[in-house]
Amino acid sequence: MRITLTRVDVLLILVVFNEAPWYIRGSFQCQQMSSEIVRPHSVTITEFGAVGDGLTINTKAFQNAIFYLNSFSDKGGAQLFVPAGRWLTGSFDLVSHLTLRLDKDAVILGSINSDDWPLIDPLPSYGRGRELPGGRHRSLIFGRNLTDIIITGDNGTIDGQGSVWWNWFRNETLDYTRPHLVEFINSTGVVISNLTFLNSPFWTIHPVYCSQVAVQNVTIISPLDSPNTDGIDPDSSNDVCIEDCYISTGDDLIAIKSGWDEYGISYARPSTNIIIRRLVGETRSSSGIALGSEMSGGISEVHAENLQFFNSNTGIRIKTSPGRGGYVRNIYVSDVIMTDVKIAIRFTSNYGEHPDNFYDPLALPIIEKITIKDVTGKNVKVAGLLDGIDGDSFLNICLSNISLSVTSGSPWNCSYIQGYSDFVSPKTCEALQEGIYPKHLSDCYCVLNHMRSPTDPDRSTLV
Ligand SMILES: *[C@@H]1O[C@H](CO)[C@@H](O)[C@H](O)[C@H]1NC(C)=O
Ligand SMILES: *[C@@H]1O[C@H](CO)[C@@H](O)[C@H](O)[C@H]1NC(C)=O
Ligand SMILES: *[C@@H]1O[C@H](CO)[C@@H](O)[C@H](O)[C@H]1NC(C)=O
Ligand SMILES: *[C@@H]1O[C@H](CO)[C@@H](O)[C@H](O)[C@H]1NC(C)=O
Ligand SMILES: *[C@@H]1O[C@H](CO)[C@@H](O)[C@H](O)[C@H]1NC(C)=O
Ligand SMILES: *[C@@H]1O[C@H](CO)[C@@H](O)[C@H](O)[C@H]1NC(C)=O
Ligand SMILES: *[C@@H]1O[C@H](CO)[C@@H](O)[C@H](O)[C@H]1NC(C)=O
Ligand SMILES: *[C@@H]1O[C@H](CO)[C@@H](O)[C@H](O)[C@H]1NC(C)=O
Repeated sequence: MRITLTRVDVLLILVVFNEAPWYIRGSFQCQQMSSEIVRPHSVTITEFGAVGDGLTINTKAFQNAIFYLNSFSDKGGAQLFVPAGRWLTGSFDLVSHLTLRLDKDAVILGSINSDDWPLIDPLPSYGRGRELPGGRHRSLIFGRNLTDIIITGDNGTIDGQGSVWWNWFRNETLDYTRPHLVEFINSTGVVISNLTFLNSPFWTIHPVYCSQVAVQNVTIISPLDSPNTDGIDPDSSNDVCIEDCYISTGDDLIAIKSGWDEYGISYARPSTNIIIRRLVGETRSSSGIALGSEMSGGISEVHAENLQFFNSNTGIRIKTSPGRGGYVRNIYVSDVIMTDVKIAIRFTSNYGEHPDNFYDPLALPIIEKITIKDVTGKNVKVAGLLDGIDGDSFLNICLSNISLSVTSGSPWNCSYIQGYSDFVSPKTCEALQEGIYPKHLSDCYCVLNHMRSPTDPDRSTLV
């Protein structure tokens, strides 16, 4: 055992060398974004007539303040401060080089009147609204074609008051697809930090066609039975850092996406270079981290580590379907603790849900180089339900150092997948039983734990 680890560590140097450019880029991303930018100009929302009584609708005050601050965007940018109070508003849109800063006792409340959430066009990579054909309601806080945006606060609150939308969804009286709480389209340099997000009508934070996005130190809460209230959904976006978040919602805590069937295939904008770390959360009906189901533009280079999921349906999940096309590759998940989770790892290959009848059923997804390691679980029902697609094997699925206390009599169930494993308990399915080390190390995506700091004491003593 000791000799094996030493050899692995020597090999590590080669692997680290190979992976270093991406690693440095990703972690640099997180650090760079967290440094606070001071804006030379600042105004308070009350200067624009806003009333923080929870009853007055303040959409015009937000729009006017932001319109005024736009004139500072070429002068170092500006800050809009939201003081203590309950600030009811409809959807408003941000401008570049802006900080929206909330006081710790500030609550921005979403209007419960759907007219205050205007309609916008569907995303080209989806071809239609996600729930209903046609347009979709614009998010409460919205930005398009922007650079250098910060939304932050001393744990101030943005509450979408989504229950009216959940009821319209449940009783099937929605006119168009529900709005997100925060959405950025085609924007670069977005920081969302130190805030609490409550009760989103639909997905909570949705960066789409964005780059350099950091979501840091946020709490996201929606009722566990609220429909489709995903936490954070990076969609066709690159260089994304999500760290130190607590998320408890009715759907996936984090879902990485990249467009839907034929629309996503032709838009062809992948989600790549995504770091997720120090995530804690619960989702009764969905997953801790999901890749897909909309993944038609491709998803790659995702590193997730230090994750804790409890009282949840699924820990790590890939969702796809014939018709999606695209790929999910080079995914690395490590250091996961699961408690009271039904299915620890799940690949769903027949997710369905197509935008229309024009998808190509022969457009099969490519799923390869998925590494999951250093996982422990208590009171897990099923360890792995790993379904590939007949004639389209999911390749190089690598599981290492996984130890789960499982209640089901058949802990693993695999079909149409291929891969390797070492130190997995309970014993994994036949298709993955061949060892990783040493012969298949290079078939697995950076299986060694290079994300640990090079000065890690354990490592130096071993080498
Ligand atoms: C978030 O809070 C921490 C601790 O107060 C602070 O260091 C950091 O700069 C804050 N981030 C932003 C963008 O304000
Ligand atoms: C994205 O935004 C930039 C400006 O920030 C603009 O030049 C570009 O045309 C936009 N692209 C799309 C597809 O909207
Ligand atoms: C964003 O950029 C695209 C492409 O240049 C343009 O069509 C669109 O009007 C812009 N939208 C906004 C809100 O600036
Ligand atoms: C997280 O934000 C809270 C306030 O919301 C702050 O007190 C704390 O220091 C922040 N932590 C980090 C790591 O930024
Ligand atoms: C922020 O507020 C939320 C909701 O009240 C709370 O659960 C969370 O612990 C707070 N976070 C910090 C860092 O204080
Ligand atoms: C659907 O839910 C909304 C929001 O709660 C409610 O106003 C409406 O009356 C309901 N409609 C039906 C047909 O149940
Ligand atoms: C196996 O994973 C556990 C965490 O689940 C970790 O503490 C341990 O160091 C790992 N073992 C090896 C040999 O990497
Ligand atoms: C494996 O899963 C399939 C369906 O996904 C099911 O039909 C089969 O019974 C399962 N096998 C075991 C041994 O649980």
